[in-house]
Amino acid sequence: MDHLIHHQPVLVQEVLDFLAVEAGGTYIDGTVGEGGHAEAILGQAGPCGRLLGLDLDDGALATAKARLEEWQESALLMKHSYSHMDDAVSELGVEQVDAVLLDLGLSSLQLEGSGRGFSFRQDEPLDMRFDPLNGVTASEVVNTYPQDRLTSIIARYGEEPRARVIARAIVQGRPFSSSHQLAEVIASIVGRTRRVHPATRTFQALRMAVNSELDRLQAGIHSAIGLLKSGGRLVIISYHSLEDRIVKQAFVHEAKNCVCPPRAPACTCGHVATLGLLTRRPITPSMKEVQANPRSRSARLRAAERLPRQNSDPTCEEVVRKDRG
Ligand SMILES: C[S@@+](CC[C@H](N)C(=O)[O-])C[C@H]1O[C@@H](n2cnc3c(N)ncnc32)[C@H](O)[C@@H]1O
Repeated sequence: MDHLIHHQPVLVQEVLDFLAVEAGGTYIDGTVGEGGHAEAILGQAGPCGRLLGLDLDDGALATAKARLEEWQESALLMKHSYSHMDDAVSELGVEQVDAVLLDLGLSSLQLEGSGRGFSFRQDEPLDMRFDPLNGVTASEVVNTYPQDRLTSIIARYGEEPRARVIARAIVQGRPFSSSHQLAEVIASIVGRTRRVHPATRTFQALRMAVNSELDRLQAGIHSAIGLLKSGGRLVIISYHSLEDRIVKQAFVHEAKNCVCPPRAPACTCGHVATLGLLTRRPITPSMKEVQANPRSRSARLRAAERLPRQNSDPTCEEVVRKDRG
């Protein structure tokens, strides 16, 4: 494993600003990857700061460990999913943290040198698991799932309009053993008319299904909200519209005191807002950053702040009554 490949973290200054990193603070980087953002957070939090870095990928954790060597007293790295970061935080000896970062998607190491078929730029076995020791591989999905299940995976997670045709071609062309073999069959069916490679959406869909990415994202947002101090920050960077929509909808939902249908005569939901929105629209990288790091071009950052917990949070009915005067 080459620990020298260094992922270039995106929107670093924006991440530090929205996380409101301060000397001596306690932070969770739920997707520590190659440690790029973690290094910047620890640098700003100083020698008394602390960071819990989580990842499912042993290779990423090894690279982060090497990169963060200087911070070994302050950084604790664990193989753990961010979806249950509340289980991991006790290792830091704290119950609440100042801020949580999730930088979704793939690291450079995974794209370029994991040998797990995340990309079709290299010809690699079809694995696609972030954690190479657990779960179903992409190979099992493409080689064993029934056609209608493949169609719904490719349509839902890839937002691929030709999902049905691609799923049929996969079923007819199996077994598949490598990323090139799969990408070529898809290209032969869909044609190369688009700017992006015709297999891009299908590869994204398979990766998301294999790693249950959307379910983990939903769970991770709620786990983070439960751990943040009052005023604590949650920052999420996503790289495609499906992820960004989930983040946006979860933030908007958590920022509301009542989530009853708009025409409901009375509130019955009991929902109390937990977040204040810090970004109405997603923050995107500058042209300068995109030129320097083309992988940053699809990044969208959203941030929110934990609202104060109250001993007796008002009921939803009380809040609505107050809002309606
Ligand atoms: C874009 S990379 C993060 C890069 C990192 N911010 C940096 O600056 O080096 C995303 C990372 O999230 C990890 N990941 C994906 N799903 C995860 C999960 N459920 N829990 C923890 N880590 C996860 C991936 O293995 C990958 O290393």
